[in-house]
Amino acid sequence: MAQNTQKGKIMTHTVQPSQHATSRRSFLRKGLAAGGAGAIGAALLANGVPAFAEAESGGLTPGDAAILRFLSAAEILETDFWQQYNELGGIQDSEVPGGSGSAAYTAALKVLDGDMDQYIHDNTEDEFTHFTFINAYLVSKGADPVNLDTFRTLPSSKATGAQQIGRLTNLMQLTVDTSYWTKYRSRTKNPDFGDTFPPAVPGLLKGQFPAIPRDDNDLSPADHIQAIANTAGFHFAFIEQGGTSLYPSLAQRVTHPEVLRILLSIGPTETMHFQTWQDKAGNAPALTDPTNGLVFPDLNAAPFGGEDFQTNLIMPEPTVFLSRKFPPVSIIRPTQTQGAAMGALKALTDDGLFIGQSKEFFAVLHDLAEAADAARHGG
Ligand SMILES: [Fe+2]
Ligand SMILES: [Fe+2]
Repeated sequence: MAQNTQKGKIMTHTVQPSQHATSRRSFLRKGLAAGGAGAIGAALLANGVPAFAEAESGGLTPGDAAILRFLSAAEILETDFWQQYNELGGIQDSEVPGGSGSAAYTAALKVLDGDMDQYIHDNTEDEFTHFTFINAYLVSKGADPVNLDTFRTLPSSKATGAQQIGRLTNLMQLTVDTSYWTKYRSRTKNPDFGDTFPPAVPGLLKGQFPAIPRDDNDLSPADHIQAIANTAGFHFAFIEQGGTSLYPSLAQRVTHPEVLRILLSIGPTETMHFQTWQDKAGNAPALTDPTNGLVFPDLNAAPFGGEDFQTNLIMPEPTVFLSRKFPPVSIIRPTQTQGAAMGALKALTDDGLFIGQSKEFFAVLHDLAEAADAARHGG
């Protein structure tokens, strides 16, 4: 009964301008109540502070809460697919439990680097800590944490080694944009100026490809499972370059110095991930997948090669920033803040990660992104 009263209070304090938005948020909250994060739910209720009670608690501004909530959602989604990678291609241990590994997939990933299983494991653990920390911080300030458990409806890989549980994301129909490769190698262009960049692996933009084996039939022939591992290798870097831009883009909108500190402390770990992954992706062997014709070109040979493709040019090239009147500078790109959350959501959607998800899922993610983008520094 006490819980019901508390929930009522939470609802009162989170009345939204439109009926539509309210129902979406109550849907999220139902997910929280029904979901697996019992500890978080209990903490919220035990805390006794109504959600978004900023004025009373000296806590978060609505804008800061919105930014943290979008980032929490993004990190939950990241954790979901990194977990799938780890179950099949990472180190299996108590830090990141759940799977039992796929020997053939793990071996194909190790063609990119002998330590791929360790890196996959560690990236997975990092993402788990990102959303867990952000949610705990939100709760500590009396704000709602994010729980997407109700949307864990997508199927797992049937390959030996994967848990058979519902997933938030789909790694089996990806369309990977590898233009990050040339974006960070350009000396004259910047996406913040509207510039676009050619992909390193054009074939990955022309279809839907698995980045994990869908079942054990995908473990052969050798060039097929290698193509799946190569796809994963380029996808790892795609994801983490997105986080590399998202944090500095949203940091420009936060108000409280401690929230800024959170964004400035998590964001660069995404960059550490990206830098590792783009180095490893450069080791993906050139091949053609015999089952679907997907081509991984030799990035060091014509018509590729040169400054825009050479695989060991992994430090960001200096480029134009803020204004062309300034000298070129080595920077993260893009960092433009307008619509950054919605842009990140679109990039993940275009990637194919949400194929099979419900309308409600997209509506909730859309609302979270919209609220984050509406935040204003000092607002
Ligand atoms: Fe993360
Ligand atoms: Fe990440």
